[in-house]
Amino acid sequence: MLALGVNVDHVATLRQARGTAYPSPLEAARLAAKGGAEGITIHLREDRRHIQDTDVWEMRREQELPLNLEMGIAPDIVELAFEVIPDEVCLVPEKREELTTEGGLDVCGQMGKLEPLCKRFHDAGIKVSLFIDPDPDQVRAAAELEVPLIELHTGTFCEEEGDARLECLRQLTEGAVMAHQFGIQVNAGHGLNLDNLADLAPCPYLHTLNIGHSIVARSVFVGMEEAVAEMLRAMQACRIS
Ligand code: PXP
Repeated sequence: MLALGVNVDHVATLRQARGTAYPSPLEAARLAAKGGAEGITIHLREDRRHIQDTDVWEMRREQELPLNLEMGIAPDIVELAFEVIPDEVCLVPEKREELTTEGGLDVCGQMGKLEPLCKRFHDAGIKVSLFIDPDPDQVRAAAELEVPLIELHTGTFCEEEGDARLECLRQLTEGAVMAHQFGIQVNAGHGLNLDNLADLAPCPYLHTLNIGHSIVARSVFVGMEEAVAEMLRAMQACRIS
């Protein structure tokens, strides 16, 4: 069955907005686990706008779900990842001025940098996922790097409507089929919510959806455990498989 990874960055956004000690991303992760999440994602951004280094350590030590550290490839973040040893890293492009991650990683254009880095992660026992657009060239490049996972960027799919969304779905399907043929696990995420989830249902071979903002937003009203359970029920109802 399709798994749900919960991104708790925006619990930290709320905390950082006032410089308080609460709300705790760790507590959110524990409640997400109770609601049925199978993994926790946090993005340590270069500008530390939400998740802080101490959160990464706490998340590693004090909660039990597999930890996916989303990250750009800035040297200090890379070195922290090698100290913390998350279960997975998901490499993403990062621009300081962006509101959230915009677009997938250009794997084709950075093979020289990514090849030794992926090998280093592999040797340290950390699974590497590459967050990419559903572009056949990017999928082929990910296969060349022999990564075990990719995460297909669903941001454009979520923003579009009607025929344009259907075209995004076609591209996601093509990317998922190709990655599956290469033996790569296919995850997907960005911008998914209770309203757009069902439109993703026809996309094959999805293993995990990583969802953050919409779950944290919903948790304000129904609590984190219920917001996660509700998303899982919606995933089951539209039988994404
Ligand atoms: N996957 C990746 C690689 C992301 O960058 C993000 C946003 O941090 C997500 C999933 C979750 O996206 P959202 O918060 O829109 O659900």
